[in-house]
Amino acid sequence: MKRVGILTGGGDAPGLNAVIWAVVRKGTKRGLEIFGLKDGWKGILKGEGEVLTPQDVEDIQRTGGTILGTSRTNPYKEENGPEKVKENFKNLSLDALIAVGGEDTLGVANRLIKEYGLPIVGVPKTIDNDLSATDYTFGFDTAINIVTEALDRLHTTTKSHHRVMVVEIMGRHAGWITLFGGLSGGAHIIIIPEEPFDLNELCEEIKRRKEAGKDYTIIAVSEGAIPKEGQKFVTQEEGTDAFGHIRLGGIARALEKEIKERTGLETRHVILGHLQRGGAPTAFDRVLGIRLGLKAVDMVLNEKFGYMAALRGTEIIEVPLEEAVGRLKTVSSDLWSEIKEVLE
Ligand code: F6P
Repeated sequence: MKRVGILTGGGDAPGLNAVIWAVVRKGTKRGLEIFGLKDGWKGILKGEGEVLTPQDVEDIQRTGGTILGTSRTNPYKEENGPEKVKENFKNLSLDALIAVGGEDTLGVANRLIKEYGLPIVGVPKTIDNDLSATDYTFGFDTAINIVTEALDRLHTTTKSHHRVMVVEIMGRHAGWITLFGGLSGGAHIIIIPEEPFDLNELCEEIKRRKEAGKDYTIIAVSEGAIPKEGQKFVTQEEGTDAFGHIRLGGIARALEKEIKERTGLETRHVILGHLQRGGAPTAFDRVLGIRLGLKAVDMVLNEKFGYMAALRGTEIIEVPLEEAVGRLKTVSSDLWSEIKEVLE
């Protein structure tokens, strides 16, 4: 019997448990033993995990988070990390590994395959939807539905008070959640990292709306948005994580202050934060997670190491991991122009 490890790394995304459910059910049926590693790459570095049976994953496809736990551990930042991973592959008798993650987790997988010859296949996940080589990542649909619901709710209170509401949305340096969530939730102004904004123009637009009788404005702004003038709105925590990322956040608060001062209008801000990652996945994300998990088992059985399961159109296909981790998928200027035209 072959033993196959599975780990979930990076920020959690609704749909992870659907992948695990599918891998355990199909893998077990096909004669594999599935070994769940704890907390992403940390689990394999420490040799921590346990065998998962179909009973262990009963009904989890409907739930958010990850039963395996997750972390932002980077083996390449640990002393002899990659060597330890290789050693524990042997100690845990793993014949293959399914790594479920975003650019960081899959970037590590790609290096371990190339530099240490480890038999790994990838499954893409992130609410940010910024992975190349796949049309959508699971977690994204859930996130934009949460943003939509939040904006729907903010409409009623903002309208009643004739206010400006600045809503900060996750997604790091990609504007997908803000653009799709903002569009669907009826944001009047959308600001994404791909298109640096001009603070003066933004305030003029808010004033124009007011003069035109539209006495409330909802602004959806990405946490990673940057102003044209080069003013720093992005608040930065001390230091970075193991993958070199700063923690974004605070732009909505900064914009609230600027807008209030420059327009004289009553302004408030809301940071949606981790609400966007929490709770049960949408039906779309459950099914996508399950289909990717099923494909990952096929890829292990066919020894397609160095590849990642991906959604292309309506098909689940295999793509080289390298294609997925080479560059971030961001909002194109064509798509942005198309949407901006109808917002203005
Ligand atoms: O990558 C997913 C994500 O939710 C980003 O949108 C966000 O910037 C980041 O993770 C937050 O990370 P953490 O949960 O470590 O604060």
